Amino acid sequence: MDRIIIFDTTLRDGEQAPGFSMTLNEKLMLAQQLARLGVDVIEAGFAASSPGDFSSVRKIAEEVKGPIICSLARANKKDIEAAAKALEPAERKRIHTFIATSEIHMKYKLKMDKEEVLARAIEAVKFARNFTDDVEFSAEDATRSDLNFLCKIFEEVIKAGATTINIPDTVGYAIPSEFKEKILYIINRVPNIDKVILSVHCHNDLGLAVANSLIAIEVGVRQVECTINGIGERAGNAALEEIVMAIKTRRDHFKLTTNINTKEIYRTSQLLSHITGVYVQPNKAIVGKNAFAHEAGIHQHGVLENPLTYEIMKPEDIGLPTNTIVLGKHSGRHALKKRIEELGFTNIPDEALDKIFEKFKVIADRKKEVFDDDLFAIVQEVLLDVPIKTYQLEYLQVLSGNTIVPSATVGLRRGEETFQDSSTGDGPVDATFKAIDRITGINGTLLSYRIRAVTHGKDAVGEVTVEVKFNGKTFVGKGSSTDIIEASALAYIDTVNKYLYRETIDKLIEDFSIEESIKES
Ligand code: KIV
Ligand code: ZN
Repeated sequence: MDRIIIFDTTLRDGEQAPGFSMTLNEKLMLAQQLARLGVDVIEAGFAASSPGDFSSVRKIAEEVKGPIICSLARANKKDIEAAAKALEPAERKRIHTFIATSEIHMKYKLKMDKEEVLARAIEAVKFARNFTDDVEFSAEDATRSDLNFLCKIFEEVIKAGATTINIPDTVGYAIPSEFKEKILYIINRVPNIDKVILSVHCHNDLGLAVANSLIAIEVGVRQVECTINGIGERAGNAALEEIVMAIKTRRDHFKLTTNINTKEIYRTSQLLSHITGVYVQPNKAIVGKNAFAHEAGIHQHGVLENPLTYEIMKPEDIGLPTNTIVLGKHSGRHALKKRIEELGFTNIPDEALDKIFEKFKVIADRKKEVFDDDLFAIVQEVLLDVPIKTYQLEYLQVLSGNTIVPSATVGLRRGEETFQDSSTGDGPVDATFKAIDRITGINGTLLSYRIRAVTHGKDAVGEVTVEVKFNGKTFVGKGSSTDIIEASALAYIDTVNKYLYRETIDKLIEDFSIEESIKES
């Protein structure tokens, strides 16, 4: 097989990292983009881990067509049943079950010996096969596990029905040359290894996740697990865009392909950044702001003469937009719709398009030019928030200066009613947030606040990202406006709405599970 299976775990391993949590709508939007990107498998979540995860795996299984939809499950019946139930509506589904195999994990985390772990793994794979023919088994912390035990467990789970065997470098400990030897050892010692697809899942603690993934495919591994922008636990997972572009750019070396439509890479990376509010470092390979920028005169000269002097990839290969100036205040609905479709947002309902157009006109009135990034912000604001907006900002008045106590008066609409309250604060933003808290009656703790200019010039749109904790749960909210206090208020209200939405969903799922168990018993 000369094609590498791209298994995307942005929505599972990526999303579980602090600061990357997403709402159901955000996950669905990203999953749809991952399908457009052409990933083979979407690991949509860990169904048993929370009601929120269960419902997002289920929703993605219902709505996203094309890739295999996968849920993670520990090696126990309850987890596997939850995964199977969440995956029921999927056209093609995979259950991914795992158990740790290293001495340190077995002794301190699982408190189990090798025999127990082996028995659990076999049982889990057999049980998962009752729900689907596509079962992946992972030996967590494989790179710190006893190799002979690893070979034994792999041989037995293949006999039990596993179809993909994954070798995770869970703590990012492997060194490429050593990883290669370990994989070769497994290939040579596990007699039935040719019956399955061999996979790797590398973490980036030593900055080697992509290098380890690439060495693995050189020795016969045919699935790599990775995430967009390399997000994930601690230093992250192997970056999808780096693996894919290495395989494409060095086809002469790897002699392999992927199903990825590389022209969707940049858009997917941007979408994830916009959703999470976490932007990639400028010098990040492939998708960083500077990845295709040539500063040095001597480089610029070379590139102008022949791009290949300093460019090993073309910006258009990853879908990097070349025209940034797009629309202005005289542009109509039709032109706006066309541009939005070019940005990848197709099939937008008319009602949402009306709202986008309304917001676009407001921005266009304040600015001379409306850029793609402005549109991105508007579209996401409308598309992601339509079903979950409990509170909406009606008006905001702020008094601030270096000789007065900053104060804010806020009006929020909830349903047909508008509520107003005021507060003073340490600054205009603090006063605004406090006034919002007084209206909603929910006190949030601000964990982080970031602001960036989305576009250029003095009239740029400011995008504010806040991380706020409500009742022990953290939510990321975003707001954009040419007025940064308004953007801050919108971002804060966004977190309040997400919190209220999550509470409602959790309640519904709880009621549903209670009803289900009453029916079953
Ligand atoms: O890093 C890891 O070991 C994992 C497994 C669950 C595959 O994420
Ligand atoms: Zn992992």
